[in-house]
Amino acid sequence: MDREALRTAALQLLRDNDLGDFIKPSRHQYPHIWNWDAAFIALGLSRADPPRARAEVRALLAGQWGSGMVPHILYPTGASDYFPTPDFWRVDAHPGAPAFATSGFTQPPILASVVRTLQQRAEALPGEADAARAFGREVYPQLLAWHRWLRAARDPHGSGLVAIVHPWESGTDNSPRFQPALERLRFRADEVPSFQRGDRRHVDAAERPLEDDYQRFMYLIGVYRELRWDDHEIWRRAPFLVHDALFNAILLQADRDLLALAREQGRPAAEIDEIGGWLEAGARGFDALWDDDAGVYFDRDLRTGELLRTNTVASLMPLYAGVPDADRAARLLREQLLDPEAYAPGPDAAFAVPSVAKREAAFEPRRYWRGPVWINANWLLARGLERYGYAREAAEIDRHSLELVTRSGFVEYYDPRDGSPCGARGFSWSAALTIEVLDAGEGGGG
Ligand code: GLC
Repeated sequence: MDREALRTAALQLLRDNDLGDFIKPSRHQYPHIWNWDAAFIALGLSRADPPRARAEVRALLAGQWGSGMVPHILYPTGASDYFPTPDFWRVDAHPGAPAFATSGFTQPPILASVVRTLQQRAEALPGEADAARAFGREVYPQLLAWHRWLRAARDPHGSGLVAIVHPWESGTDNSPRFQPALERLRFRADEVPSFQRGDRRHVDAAERPLEDDYQRFMYLIGVYRELRWDDHEIWRRAPFLVHDALFNAILLQADRDLLALAREQGRPAAEIDEIGGWLEAGARGFDALWDDDAGVYFDRDLRTGELLRTNTVASLMPLYAGVPDADRAARLLREQLLDPEAYAPGPDAAFAVPSVAKREAAFEPRRYWRGPVWINANWLLARGLERYGYAREAAEIDRHSLELVTRSGFVEYYDPRDGSPCGARGFSWSAALTIEVLDAGEGGGG
C-alpha cells in the first residue's frame, strides 16, 4: 500500500468508528470513550479535520469531575456489552461525578500536549486560527484543573511524581511490572465484587489478561467503591500505589505544554509559577526511579518502597519527556532499544518495539501489554529519540509501525515475532498515529 492509500484507509477507519458524538476506540470491544484514546484520535484528526478533533477533546472533557479528575472511561451513551458496565463503578456516590456514568479513576494525561498541538497546527491553517485560539482558551481551565487534581490527590506530599492507584490508570493494564504489587494484595474471595468479563467475547483469551489479574483489578475497584471514590481516603488506604514512569513521563511533557498555553494566554504569574513548580519537581522526581545497574527507569511501589524491577517499555518512556541526561539516554538506546535481546528486532522477533524486554521471563508475545508491539508506545518512544537527536533510530521505529499496520491492518497490538494482528480489530489510535507518522514524514511535522 502506498502512503496515500494508507492515510486514506486510516482516516476511513476513524470515520467508521465515529458514533456521532465521539469516535470509539475500536470496531468492537470498546464502544465508549477512553481518555488517552480520545486524545490520540484528536491528534490524528488535527490536520484532516480540526473541528472534529476539537469535538473529540470536548467529548472527553465533558466527563470531568468537580474535583478536576478526568476519568479513564466515559459512558455518555449508556451501557453496552462492555464490562465494567457503567453502574459497576458506582460513581454517583461521589458529589463531583458528572450526570452520565464514568469510571472512578484516570489514565495517562496526554491531553494538554494534544491540545497544544491542535492549536499550533490550526493557527497555520487559513480560517482556523481564531477558532484554534478560542478553543485553547476554552479548554485550558479544564486542563489546569485536571493537572491540579493530579498533584493534590496523587502527590499530596510533593514528591514530584504522581501515583496511580490501579494498573488501568497506567493505560498498560496487565503490564508485568505491576505483578509484585498485585501479588502482595491479600483479600478474601468475598471482597471481590461479583463480575462477568466481556473482553473475551471479541478477542482470543490467549491475547487478554489472565483471570487472576482480573480478580485483583476488580478487588481494587471494590475497595475504592467502598471509599466512595474519596480522594483523601484513597490516598490513605489504596492497596496499590505506584509511581509509574510512563504516566509521569506523559504528565511531565503535558505540564510543559500546559505551561506554554498558560504563557500564550497571559495567565496570572502565580499560575505560571505553579505549573513551573510541577515541572521542576517532576523532572527531579524521576531520579528516584533510575536504576543505574540496570540502566533503565523502574516504577516504584509506594506501599513497600521497592522499585518494580521488570524491564518494560515504561522503563524507556522518560525519553519521551526529555528526562534522562545525554548519557542515560545513550544507555537506554544502546543497551535497550538497539539490543536484540531486549527491544531491537532480531532473529526471534522481526518487529520493534515489544512492550516488554524479550529477555524478561514475563515476556509473552501475544498477550496484551506483556510483549506485543503497541503503536502508541512506538510513537512515544520515537518522539523521545528525536528529542535527543537520534533521528535515524526514531525513523526506524516509525518504519516498523507503518509496516505493521500495512501488513496486518489497524489492530490493537501486534505479535513482535511476525507482526501478526492481535486484540481488537479496527483500532482507532493505531490509525490516528499512522496519520501522524505519515504526515511528519511528508515534512508536515510540528
Ligand atoms: C485497553 C488499553 C488501554 C486503552 C483501552 C481502550 O484497556 O490497555 O490503554 O485505553 O483498552 O482502547
